[in-house]
Amino acid sequence: MSYLPIRVSTLRGDQPIEFDAYVKINDKYILYLRRGDSFEGTRLTRLKEKNLKKMFIVESDEKNYRHYLDHNISHAFDKTSPKTLQNRVEIAQGATQTAAEEVMENPEDSAAYSAAKDGALRFVEFLQREDEGFLHILNMENIDNSVAHHGVTVSSLSVALAARLGINDSKQLQLLSLGALLHDFEHFHSSINIARPITHLNPQEMVVYKEHPLLGARRLQDKRHFDQAVLNIISQHEEYIDGKGFPMGLNQSKTDPLALIVASANKVDRLMTFEKVPRDELARKLLIRYTGCHPLEHLKNLGEILNQFKP
Ligand SMILES: [Fe+2]
Ligand SMILES: [Fe+2]
Repeated sequence: MSYLPIRVSTLRGDQPIEFDAYVKINDKYILYLRRGDSFEGTRLTRLKEKNLKKMFIVESDEKNYRHYLDHNISHAFDKTSPKTLQNRVEIAQGATQTAAEEVMENPEDSAAYSAAKDGALRFVEFLQREDEGFLHILNMENIDNSVAHHGVTVSSLSVALAARLGINDSKQLQLLSLGALLHDFEHFHSSINIARPITHLNPQEMVVYKEHPLLGARRLQDKRHFDQAVLNIISQHEEYIDGKGFPMGLNQSKTDPLALIVASANKVDRLMTFEKVPRDELARKLLIRYTGCHPLEHLKNLGEILNQFKP
């Protein structure tokens, strides 16, 4: 029998699966979830706790898997769907995370890039339509410290911040969302554990860490299908407005405005997911730690956004 890999991030929501799902252990495929069951609740959590990114289906189930995906997605983005908002958000989050993973794993694949770009716009429109959607995204814990999940969280924070800054051009918002999804492209390929305070990195790790924006952008610069704005976000998202960020030490006037937004939004999820700062302390921590590094207007607005959406 031959097996095909599927991404765990596509398995969201309460819809019963239309295929058998396997995990691969020591070159053996073990049936994990049967057709007719769903990945709701603890089943998915347990997979994430094991840091499992891919599962498998038998080749003859590919059509059924595609059907499950289409069905899920059509519900997620349909406001009239009978599914709960929580379920629809989980599917939208998973679809967006999957698209980011596809690009980070296969950056040379221009079809994967355009799918992620289309998906980024759909995600922006979803967030604009669903007032409470953003809250559910923030409440989806990034259990396995996934770089792509982090990208989705930063993307939704960036879109929320942009709305408050009066940016409503859909092309700009699409590039902002896509750049935020992919901003830590290089971490996807490096072995450094970023899920801890940066001060805990040893000197060798710090050298690699400080290069991640530039290495990421360099790795992508010959890929003609990447938008310049996305490359700017990847290379400039660790810069500070006072010129004391990295890798180039660009000050505010030299930094792409979209990268400035992602840089600020990124700090929220760094504190929340990677440094485990409690939600009710986030707004205050953000101001204390990063005033002078990011525009005050960004930090204040992000604080208000966070306080508005208490879990
Ligand atoms: Fe980064
Ligand atoms: Fe990041």
